[in-house]
Parts: sequence; C-alpha cells; structure tokens
Amino acid sequence: MKYIIETWGCQMNEHDSEVLAGMLADLGYKRTDDEMDADVMLLNTCCVREKAESKVLGRLGLLKKLKQNNPDVILGVCGCMMQQPAMADRIKKRMPHMDLVFGTHNIHELPQMINEAKASRTTHIQVWPEQGEVKEGLPIKRTHGIKAFVNIMYGCNNFCTYCIVPYVRGRERSRLSKEILVEIKDLVNDGYREIMLLGQNVNSYGKDLQDEGDFADLLKAVNEIKGLDRIRFMTSHPRDFNLRLVNTLASCNKVCEHYHLPIQAGSSRILKKMNRGYTKEEYLELISQIKDRVPHASITTDIIVGFPGETEEDFDDTMEVISKVRFDGAYTFLYSSRPNTPAAKISEQVPQELKKKRFQKLLALQNSITEEINKQLIGQTLPVLFEGTSKNDDTVLMGRTRTNKIVHVSGHAELIGKIVDVNIQGAQMFSLSGKII
Ligand code: SAH
Ligand code: SF4
Ligand code: F3S
Repeated sequence: MKYIIETWGCQMNEHDSEVLAGMLADLGYKRTDDEMDADVMLLNTCCVREKAESKVLGRLGLLKKLKQNNPDVILGVCGCMMQQPAMADRIKKRMPHMDLVFGTHNIHELPQMINEAKASRTTHIQVWPEQGEVKEGLPIKRTHGIKAFVNIMYGCNNFCTYCIVPYVRGRERSRLSKEILVEIKDLVNDGYREIMLLGQNVNSYGKDLQDEGDFADLLKAVNEIKGLDRIRFMTSHPRDFNLRLVNTLASCNKVCEHYHLPIQAGSSRILKKMNRGYTKEEYLELISQIKDRVPHASITTDIIVGFPGETEEDFDDTMEVISKVRFDGAYTFLYSSRPNTPAAKISEQVPQELKKKRFQKLLALQNSITEEINKQLIGQTLPVLFEGTSKNDDTVLMGRTRTNKIVHVSGHAELIGKIVDVNIQGAQMFSLSGKII
C-alpha cells in the first residue's frame, strides 16, 4: 500500500504531515510520488491567505480525474482550511470525489478515519470544532534526516485582527517540557544535529501550564542536551520577546544567531489596529537589544502590505523600519481579507493596485538590503551544516550557516550531516557559495 501527502502552508502543517506520514507508515504504507500508484492521497491545506485557498480548491478539482482513473484511491483533505465553518460541507457538495475531510484537531484519528472513508459511499467528514488535549506519542516520519521539527506548543491566543490562524488552530496548548526533552534526546540518538522548536508564538510557551518554566527555561534545558549542535525556533512574537529571553539567547551556545521576528507593519497606528501589542519604537528597541547582545545576529521578518486603512504615511513607516533594522530577509505579503476576522469588517480596504505598488517598492528595498548584507559575508569563513545536495546538481552540497543562510559548495556527499568551515566566495540574494576549508 502506498501514500502521497501534499502540504501547503507553514512548518506547523509540514510537521503535521510528518505525523500523518508516521501513522501511515505504522499501518504499512510506503511513500510514492506516483499518483496512479497511491492507495491514499492526503492534501494538508492552508488558509492564511486567499491565494493559498484558491490553489487548494483548484488542486481538489483536478483530483476528480485521478479518482476516475484510480477509483480505489482514498482521497483525503485536511488542515487549517477544513476548520473553517461550512468548508467540509462545501467540499462534500462540490467535490464528491473526495473521500475524507478532517481538520487540524484530530489528525491522530487518521487510521480509523481511513477505514470509515473506505466504508462510506459519500465523503466522510470528521472535523472537530475545537481542540482536544495535546496528543503525545504519535509516530512521526520526518522528511529530513539532519534537522527535525519539534512542536513545543499548538494554537495561538493572539488574535491579530487580520489572522485566521487562532480560529483554525485553536487556543495555545504547551507540551510538557519533559516530553519535549525526551523527544529531542531521542532525535539526537538517531543522528539529528539540529532541531527547530515550533509554535505559532513560541515566546508564550508554558503560560498555559502550571509548574512549567517559560520559553527561556526551555531553551536552557534544550541547550544542555549532549550531542545536539544547533537549536532554532519559530515563530517569535515581538511583544513577548523580553530581555530575559534576549539574554538567554546570547548565553546558549547551541541557539543559532537567527531570529524570525515578524513586525507586520512599521506604523504604530496600524500595529494597534492589528492588535499586535507593540509600537514601532518598542520593536526598534527590541532589535537594538538583540544586536547589542548578539552582534552578528541575522534577523528576518514578516510584513503585510495594505492592511485596511494603511495610508502612504503608514507605509513610509514600514519602509523606514526596513531601512533602520536592515533585515537579512523579509517574507512580504499583500493583505488578504480572511472571513470572520475583525480586519475583514473594516470598510477602508486598500485597492489591490495600490497594495501591489507598495509591495513592489518594499520588495525592491528589502532585496537590495539582503544582497548587501550577503555580499559583506564574502571572504569570511563560517561553519556550515550540510543538509543535502542541491536540487539541480548532486555534486553540489547545500548547507546552512548558523545565521540560516543557504550555502552551496562542491563537495562529497559524505559531508552531509557534518559541520564544516566554508570560506564564502560568492553571494546572491537567496544563497551564498564558497569553498570548503
Ligand atoms: N504565528 C506566526 C505566523 C502566522 S502566519 C506569527 O505570528 O508570526 C505567517 C504570516 O502570514 C504572518 O506573519 C503574516 O505576515 C502573514 N499573514 C497572516 N494573515 C494574513 C493575511 N490575512 N493577509 C496577508 N498576510 C497574512
Ligand atoms: Fe496569527 Fe498573530 Fe497568532 Fe501569528 S500571532 S498566528 S499572526 S494571530
Ligand atoms: Fe497556513 Fe495553518 Fe500554517 S493557515 S500558515 S498552515 S497554521
């Protein structure tokens, strides 16, 4: 028996897909890339922006043909998009070729759901309206062999006014630190060298639990694990990123000097409307504290252009922050109105053309900064952890610096999984190239 999983969206979804794959592997399924060969096909969806949703709907439509050619395949769709009200019924009605619909809160039920879908003549729907307890001990089949995603918490309590995530992922639930530490120790024993701690807002880790430390305490404990080389984490919320955490980052030698700190907008007025809980000045102060204690830190961010009511002055604030902070990189998004979020109800939506114009201006500025920062690395020798070979050429190795810059070098595949000093000789926007020392 064979399976295919297609995943959209963020690392949360990627990791959920690793859990789905783990359960399928336990049931005896093997992975395939050939749709015609698959007995189970799952699509793990994202709905953070409208574009993500329309891609999924297009893909689901195309699967009708697959079902005609391979009628025994079980076609399932899951993930954030399915948690939206009425979505499952809409799929059942408009895409009757889909066999199974489930959400983000009950992925652990996959084995039973597959059986139920097989037995059902219509689309089997099993979406939980709310989150349950944190499930421990589920099998995980990881995609990478060198770096591993480890969930430290699920859900989000922040309700940024543009964002659908809290509605589709539920409230914050932290895992017990002892469970997290055992998982990481096992990963290290299995040869993993880097772990990425995952949560929608890792800085509020532990707040929902009694007798647990906070995120800084967790980082310190993970930093003690012998044999582990690198720790990363994602995503941070600037409001909860306190000085104690900054000091902890500076003192934990395994925590990589790369912090993803979404600012979303540079204007304090817009930040207030977004319910982000910090001002432009507070954000800039936080960045200067980080740069003060970790001088070579690489900082990346997320920015939304065209939030309702964004004026030219507001946008200029965002441009100003980009110039001041000099981010190593930024994920930039056009604001996308999401159903039932407070921002969707604001009447002053920014016209699409204007959003696009601002977006291009912002991208040009950020790209020039990214390139300048990367070019400054030429001549430096940096430790690189090799993760695999380049997509296009298997004599070229792909690795990352601690600051999360992608590096390509020619070298032997034996070096995959090793940390090697590389002299940087070339710098492009999205990657560096160099020579092994
Ligand atoms: N929990 C993380 C990431 C959430 S989604 C965080 O708080 O940073 C990833 C990014 O998508 C967000 O940081 C935001 O920049 C973007 N995003 C979320 N909702 C959006 C919307 N309605 N329109 C455009 N971008 C959005
Ligand atoms: Fe969405 Fe804000 Fe939560 Fe991030 S912190 S997931 S942007 S509500
Ligand atoms: Fe998308 Fe869900 Fe992640 S909406 S961004 S996959 S939490």
